[in-house]
Amino acid sequence: MASDSPTDQPQPLPEVDLKTFIAQMPKAELHVHLEGCLTPVLARSLASRNNLPPPSSLSHLEPSHPEAGYAFNDLTSFLQIYYPNLAVLVTAEDFSDLALSYLRTAHAQNVKHVELFFDPQAHTSRGIPFPTVVRGYRHGVITAQRTLGISASLIMCFLRDHSAEYAMSTLMESLPFKDSIIGVGLDSDERDNPPSKFASVFQRAAREGYLLTMHCDIDQPNILTHIGQAINEIQVDRIDHGTNIIESPELVDTIKTRGIGLTCCPISNSVVTADFKGREIVSLLRQGVKVTINSDDPAYFRGYVNENLLKLAEGTDVTKKELIQLQRNAFMISWISSWRRSHFLHMLDEYEQKALSLVEERRPLANGI
Ligand code: ADE
Ligand code: ZN
Repeated sequence: MASDSPTDQPQPLPEVDLKTFIAQMPKAELHVHLEGCLTPVLARSLASRNNLPPPSSLSHLEPSHPEAGYAFNDLTSFLQIYYPNLAVLVTAEDFSDLALSYLRTAHAQNVKHVELFFDPQAHTSRGIPFPTVVRGYRHGVITAQRTLGISASLIMCFLRDHSAEYAMSTLMESLPFKDSIIGVGLDSDERDNPPSKFASVFQRAAREGYLLTMHCDIDQPNILTHIGQAINEIQVDRIDHGTNIIESPELVDTIKTRGIGLTCCPISNSVVTADFKGREIVSLLRQGVKVTINSDDPAYFRGYVNENLLKLAEGTDVTKKELIQLQRNAFMISWISSWRRSHFLHMLDEYEQKALSLVEERRPLANGI
């Protein structure tokens, strides 16, 4: 029998530390807010280009220390600086530059595909026309695709602390841009703003062909009711965060049966709650739920996808094989064609074979020999 030629088998990689293992893994990111990618450096530069003062959230920062971050300590104080900072985004070029700056970083982290949230109402409410926002973001996405080879889609989120009528009118405004937007989501302050408030908006969005996701944020009041509504009333395709589902074995069974995935964000969890929820994320993974790891608002929480994976890996007993499974989940629940899904899953299989074959070979035998 002919032996395999060297090109038939993936060549093993040298065994590497966890950080390198994560960095080299092909990845998808499904939960990142474009507005949350506005770094202090970019905010300052856009303000200057638009002849605006720098946002007041930057006043405590030294311009000569661009690595310094925004100051906040929970979801409320985060949102209180998040929205005012957006005043520096004025022209389509600004939105394009914001998308491109995130996609460059994601590409440098070996992210192959991204599904990007954006909040049109955070801009239309301050007088920026809807088409300016979408055309700008779309330009950034297309430029990144062409120049870097990273693929990206846009998900339009409604602000849940505004009215359902405003969400519906935003949905109507989006219809001429349907080709550029793959799905709709729901974000911002969840307290007293349950999924059911937006049932008719999501029903119409589904009829228009949009895929559906929504935030069920960590440890919110009535969170299991919200998760139940998202699954049963709204019939979402995915849930953003949603980690509290672990408290309901019945809901866990339902999402497993329906293949609904969760987009989890360990670093943001650790800032907005007392815990990064690593134990819950790994337990859900081991129960067969399609959990994924993402960055949420990387410019604010100060971690992109690699740092989020590292936080999980260092804070739990998750294995390298399971870290690969988390990425497999991301490609499985991503909104891409089945052809591209197979392509990325094959890439991950190859990575697993190359990166883990040495680890397997070197594992000591159970009897110590
Ligand atoms: N909008 C941007 N980031 C968010 C988060 N972590 N929770 C709710 N709304 C958001
Ligand atoms: Zn989010």
